[in-house]
Amino acid sequence: MAAEANDSELRKGLHGMWASVAPGWAEHADYVDARSSDITERLLDAAGVGAGMRVLELACGPGSVGIAAAQRVGAEGAVVCSDVAREMTAIAASRAAEQGLSNVTTKVLDLEEIDEPEESYDAVVCREGMMFAANHARAAREIRRVLRPGGRVAVAVWAARERNPWLTILLDAIGEQLGAQVPPPGVPGPFSLSDPRALESLLSEAGWSEVAVDDEPVSVRVEDFDDWWTRTCALAGPVSGLLAALPEEGVEAIRARAAAAIEGYRNGDSIELPGVTLIASGSR
Ligand SMILES: C[S@@+](CC[C@H](N)C(=O)[O-])C[C@H]1O[C@@H](n2cnc3c(N)ncnc32)[C@H](O)[C@@H]1O
Repeated sequence: MAAEANDSELRKGLHGMWASVAPGWAEHADYVDARSSDITERLLDAAGVGAGMRVLELACGPGSVGIAAAQRVGAEGAVVCSDVAREMTAIAASRAAEQGLSNVTTKVLDLEEIDEPEESYDAVVCREGMMFAANHARAAREIRRVLRPGGRVAVAVWAARERNPWLTILLDAIGEQLGAQVPPPGVPGPFSLSDPRALESLLSEAGWSEVAVDDEPVSVRVEDFDDWWTRTCALAGPVSGLLAALPEEGVEAIRARAAAAIEGYRNGDSIELPGVTLIASGSR
């Protein structure tokens, strides 16, 4: 009973945290589309998304993957962009409407408890969302449940911390300032599914078949430090609250540390920060 209460408090906190950063995701939605367009295509290929299919996007944020899927499924198909935060599905809905996509609808859904019937989708896709579930195994079982037999799933989750300086520079600079690990241990964060073997076992044990886990490099190119700082702070759900609670001199100290670290990645006039995501796919 106590464990269930803790789990539900943890989930409530995580969901509220994402809702609070939705304005940043609305502002930077086009940048998000462009930064991760290769991941989007890899996901749609791995999930076998094609004409006439019914596709569910989980943890959609501004809906980049679902909106791209809508082009592939065409007028005979349908895409549901879903997220646990209503504020995020509102962004996806307005972007789909702006593009005149009549085959996209949105829904508030928790990927750990998907309020959809069994076997109701041909494909499920999720980009950088599953690792934030409080219980990853439950999420993997839920995804399988809503897929029709033979249907396919593809999810992207960040690879190991040390392979993603584009984000860890910020997390480490905050952690050094606070004298603590960011995000704290035990809280599902960006790297909580970053071990490929553990991920493969988790998905197989949840009943996915033909499981494959592959790397996809995603470097982040920015013009200067301020460009990176603004975008990363606006989008990184787990850090925006921490920064907002710090005094100005604390934030300045973090900025100075991060600026020094970023310089190591300068390439001529721009800065190129490495990143790697894992693409995990399988079928029901
Ligand atoms: C890093 S953002 C990724 C957004 C989008 N998929 C993308 O790649 O641009 C993480 C998203 O996961 C959503 N999220 C977190 N926990 C979730 C859950 N349990 N169920 C559904 N969505 C969740 C957040 O609201 C947020 O939109």
